[in-house]
Amino acid sequence: MNFELKSLTTAAAAREKCDLLLVLTTAASAQGSDALSALVAHALKAGDFETGAGKQLPMYNLPAVAARRVLLVGAGSGSARDVRQAVAAVASAFKAPGVAKAVLCFAFETQGPALAAAVLAASDACYTYTLTKSKPQLPTLQKLVFAAPAHASLAPAFKIAQAQVHGMDLAREWANRPANHATPSMLAEAARGLAKLPGISCKIHGPAEVAKLGMGAFMAVAQGSAQPLRFIELHYNGGAKGAAPQVVVGKGITFDSGGISLKPAADMDEMKYDMGGAASVLGLFQALGELQPAVNVVGLIAACENLPSSTAVKPGDVVTSMSGQTVEILNTDAEGRLVLCDALTYAARFKPAALIDIATLTGACVIALGGLRSGLFATDDALATALQSAGDTAQDPCWRMPLDEEYGEGLKSNFADMGNVAGRAAGSVTAAKFLQRFVGDTSWAHLDIAGTAWKSGAAKGSTGRPVGLLLHYMLAQESRGAAGKPATAKARPAAGKTAAKRASTAARTAAGKSPAATPVVTEAKAAAPARTRRSKPAQA
Ligand code: BES
Ligand code: MN
Ligand code: ZN
Repeated sequence: MNFELKSLTTAAAAREKCDLLLVLTTAASAQGSDALSALVAHALKAGDFETGAGKQLPMYNLPAVAARRVLLVGAGSGSARDVRQAVAAVASAFKAPGVAKAVLCFAFETQGPALAAAVLAASDACYTYTLTKSKPQLPTLQKLVFAAPAHASLAPAFKIAQAQVHGMDLAREWANRPANHATPSMLAEAARGLAKLPGISCKIHGPAEVAKLGMGAFMAVAQGSAQPLRFIELHYNGGAKGAAPQVVVGKGITFDSGGISLKPAADMDEMKYDMGGAASVLGLFQALGELQPAVNVVGLIAACENLPSSTAVKPGDVVTSMSGQTVEILNTDAEGRLVLCDALTYAARFKPAALIDIATLTGACVIALGGLRSGLFATDDALATALQSAGDTAQDPCWRMPLDEEYGEGLKSNFADMGNVAGRAAGSVTAAKFLQRFVGDTSWAHLDIAGTAWKSGAAKGSTGRPVGLLLHYMLAQESRGAAGKPATAKARPAAGKTAAKRASTAARTAAGKSPAATPVVTEAKAAAPARTRRSKPAQA
């Protein structure tokens, strides 16, 4: 799918040759003097159309419009939220037969956030999973033009939104792939593919290296499977040499059966999504490679399968983590924290400015927050605030949860330094308390994305979250570095200039052209029908 941004008035958008013209309309849209605005005013007055977000009026063969099909779409107040809802409501129009080129026109003054919202919603509508279909439904839509009256904020916001959706599509694609098409080794190859982007390098550690590092907790989870584990290390160096990196750690359980503490059969297929944290790390690096912000980022992924077998770890087994702390594995289904604890210990060697792990960690988090907001746990208020505001900006929100000392009391064990589970109460918090024992004094945050990484039911599929949150957090770190920290000012040519500023230049020269896809990136294609979810609630 090719997205392009054009500065166009409503009248000019009406002259664009295309198969479908979508006209996003607010009450203010009726005030213009062009033919479309007059039409909107007429339809509103006649009561045939309302501007509430997602309301529609289809039209055909209008004399003043180049496109055969025209769809008036209510955009509510024109806010980012309403625009996202409006574009999501017309998802099926993008897939109508015979629509190869569409123009999405803002018939009102709009700025970056609303444009970004439209890009996100359109990309959502256009993603199609095809890898394991013998006769995939190929999309007819090839090009989508976003047309809006000129505003300085549009080009930079468009560039960032495009990088965000490319990252989200990569995360979505890998998360959607069945576990036999997304093994730990395949994830490692995907990471290697990302190292083709400028500023990115990649190192893959196999079982021998992981054993040498002493990652006994990670190895214990992997030991039940014939698929060898992979510990993936990605580096993006866009900031000053030696500047402390942001470190992100993704849970990469490519299938979580529960192990000997076997899960029930119902919906167990969805445990292919248990590498959603890892997928978001890959997606983040895709976007970083595209935007080249002046920040240093390390990405770590602990990837393995959690299966029962004669070699599997057993309830009651005690293992020694890389930190030296011993863990009694009381429940082999609480495996995410076991692979993460060793990755968090490893992360300390980078002396992180901040350490953020992302994991589909607990069913309890789904109960607490549903599918709207990811759970956020943080030892540092400034980091928590930065992640919350990044989530709000990216329309990928999270909600802060507590970390009181008392929540950790249930983790005690008679046979090791700690057990890997506490009681049923506050399960997402006790899981976070377990992780906290492995981060020392580092400024740390944990995102529990169990509810937000994918949707269940008829619309089953990955959401690509929280790539948007992570990307916007990284971009905010860049602005801070460029403004305040002298250490980052004299880095590569890119440093000192924010991604947004560079993006505005880039967007002028290469509007709408996405960079060459890496071998691991699967092209986004036309959409699957928007349906409701059953067991997991709807996405934000
Ligand atoms: N991957 C699951 C968490 C999960 C479950 C995410 C359902 C999304 C939907 C995790 O490994 C797990 O099994 N956690 C257990 C922990 C328990 C044994 C303490 C859980 O949440 O039930
Ligand atoms: Mn589990
Ligand atoms: Zn799991």
